[in-house]
Amino acid sequence: MAKHTVTLIPGDGIGPEITTAMTRVVEATGVDIEWERVEAGSDVMDKYGTPLPDHVLESIRKNKVAIKGPITTPVGTGFRSVNVALRKALDLYTNLRPAFSIPGTGARYDDIDLVIVRENTEDLYAGIEFEQGTEDARELIEWVESKGAGTIRPDSGISLKPISITGSRRIVKFAFDYAIANGRKKVTAVHKANILKHSDGLFLKVAREVAEEYADSGVEFEDYIVDATCMQLVLHPEWWDVLVLPNLYGDILSDLAAGLIGGLGMAPGANIGAEYAVFEPVHGSAPKYTGKDMANPTAEILSAVLMLNHLGEREAGDRVLNAVRAVLAEGEHVTYDIKRTNTGSTEGSVGTQAYADAVIERL
Ligand code: NAI
Repeated sequence: MAKHTVTLIPGDGIGPEITTAMTRVVEATGVDIEWERVEAGSDVMDKYGTPLPDHVLESIRKNKVAIKGPITTPVGTGFRSVNVALRKALDLYTNLRPAFSIPGTGARYDDIDLVIVRENTEDLYAGIEFEQGTEDARELIEWVESKGAGTIRPDSGISLKPISITGSRRIVKFAFDYAIANGRKKVTAVHKANILKHSDGLFLKVAREVAEEYADSGVEFEDYIVDATCMQLVLHPEWWDVLVLPNLYGDILSDLAAGLIGGLGMAPGANIGAEYAVFEPVHGSAPKYTGKDMANPTAEILSAVLMLNHLGEREAGDRVLNAVRAVLAEGEHVTYDIKRTNTGSTEGSVGTQAYADAVIERL
């Protein structure tokens, strides 16, 4: 029996290509791993009547660890994001998104080493919405007005932003524990508490309380307003260490952070709960590149590095990371996105699998 069994969800769009590149690289390290392959997303709707069949969740519950490619959320069909549903169903309350510079990506900065710790289960992502023009929206609007809480235009759609003590507490604790375990110096809570007093304000209050509990940990704490954070991230990306944020700001700032390190093709991620962990890149399914063997699999491969570390296979993880570094530093066998940022043209770039071959050669 393999030492590790990992659920593999290839996803759709560029997902199958980049996950193939990733599994080839991981297997080439010699790690004893077996993939339990399951499908989710709109392609399985007809077969199972749901984009997230039970057996997918069962597989992850059994193996505890999964790695996935991106899954498209079709616009205008009834179902909500499979990615969000997965995080909710398995209570994967942390979305960990490290952003670190790797020379050779052509990024504007070369000294970035920050970690985004994004709350993954509540906030505007909770999916509690009331469609414009419905009876429910009308009732809610009337109820809000009857409470004297304010007026809402009758032709409004409404999305709720719940933020709880429970959700805030565990994510900020995660950020501190992560900082301690990884030799990090500072945790910054990012919010808009000056305006959103009862949601972000609560998040900030709880963050301060948790920081008090970690006062002797040696990890510094500060808080920052989200808009100012965006500006300072661009002006002084080297300032930042561990950032902990409510769901939506975490989502937006991780794309910003990806931009600082060379683009979405470079940014890995992990969804972590008390029991299960699901690894996936920050980016989506990039439909326009589907089946073209063009997408950059680095974010998926670096997500596998996070997974290998999680599985206790740190040596294999380091080897993969160093191989990726070597290929990017050399700059010969890189995908179109990296070639373009480096030279202004995609000429001379290689495909997804050829890039994986180059990584495998340097393991
Ligand atoms: P996206 O991240 O898929 O792509 C935006 C653009 O970024 C692409 O057009 C491409 O230019 C570039 N890009 C992304 N990944 C790349 C890679 N590996 N290599 C090279 N270039 C890359 O974002 P978009 O277009 O907003 O979303 C497409 C679909 O993906 C949507 O249905 C969305 O809901 C879904 N999505 C899924 C996620 C997940 O599975 N966790 C996360 C984000 C989006």
